[in-house]
Amino acid sequence: MSVGLNVIETTWLLLGILFFLAVSIHTISLYLPYECEKFQAFILFQDLIRYGKTKKSKRDTWLRVFDIPKRWFWHFYAVSVLWNGLLVVVSLRAIQWDEPYPPWLTDTLSFLAGSSATHGQAPHVCSVAVQVLVWIHCLRRLAECLYVSVFSDGVIHVVQYVFGLGYYILLGLTVLCWDRNTEGKGCMVSLEGPVPPVLTQLGVVQAAGVLLFAWASLLQHRSLITLAHLRTGASGAVETLAHRVPSGGWFELVSCPHYLAELLIYASLSLVSGGVSLTWWLVVLYVLFNQMLAALLCHQFYRSKFESYPQHRKALIPFIL
Ligand SMILES: NC(=O)c1ccc[n+]([C@@H]2O[C@H](COP(=O)([O-])OP(=O)(O)OC[C@H]3O[C@@H](n4cnc5c(N)ncnc54)[C@H](OP(=O)(O)O)[C@@H]3O)[C@@H](O)[C@H]2O)c1
Repeated sequence: MSVGLNVIETTWLLLGILFFLAVSIHTISLYLPYECEKFQAFILFQDLIRYGKTKKSKRDTWLRVFDIPKRWFWHFYAVSVLWNGLLVVVSLRAIQWDEPYPPWLTDTLSFLAGSSATHGQAPHVCSVAVQVLVWIHCLRRLAECLYVSVFSDGVIHVVQYVFGLGYYILLGLTVLCWDRNTEGKGCMVSLEGPVPPVLTQLGVVQAAGVLLFAWASLLQHRSLITLAHLRTGASGAVETLAHRVPSGGWFELVSCPHYLAELLIYASLSLVSGGVSLTWWLVVLYVLFNQMLAALLCHQFYRSKFESYPQHRKALIPFIL
């Protein structure tokens, strides 16, 4: 058995390490003397890890050149809905009509997965289930960005914007790479012969994954509604673009339940993939450190801005972090 990582797994591992380092460096920087904050490297680092409300209000002009409106977040999900929707269609056609993947996709997967197809081209049912859940997740997020969230004039760095666009492309390819290298471990039945009802092919682990996905999605949706209500009146009209202290529900336990929900959504996808896929747990590792960084910055923002911010509230994980 080879323990080497392929290109896609190496990429997720490196991204996880990158965000782990960012969390570590940021945490250490909190204890450095004030003078260190004047170093250009420190300023650039802070500008690259922060976005939205956690970005410093007073920033050099040269840094503001790279600003992109945060309300453009919907671009990420629009790209994802199109791209991952296309991949779902390609997979379903492969299952239904034994139609081969387009050559450009086959070549890309061969490069990223480090292997050629092992079981024909038709993907496992678990993979298609993950693809569909990723698509549903991004469709919901797109709708929330467009119709639920109330954005202020917050900004993100152009590097974060480009990364966000590429992120969901990579995610979709990751599902197919994993599928290519798996023998259906964790999937109860592999696809041979006539296509049986999808539900008969999903086991207990997958069912737990789907339930967790549904619950975490609801948690994220409710949290984003709570944040939107901080800016709207009873009529639904926007009254302010200020940042206020959220409260109620999971906000009583953590500052960012929507980030916790994001982490749980990716963990749930890992379960739907069978729960034993190294590839998917590397993705979860990346999301953990990515959301941990965002949550810590958000938590520190609330604590510095609001004197009466609840002391018992954690950043991301109730009672722990
Ligand atoms: N998988 C990933 O790699 C990844 C990366 C990033 C985000 N995400 C997910 O994307 C979702 C959105 O993330 P985000 O970082 O944009 O969340 P966010 O900063 O909390 O913003 C969500 C919405 O709430 C508003 N808001 C935030 N705090 C507020 C407050 N205290 N008072 C009033 N309004 C407030 C924001 O407005 P303004 O910020 O415009 O003021 C925005 O409209 C999250 O669920 C997150 O998990 C995923």
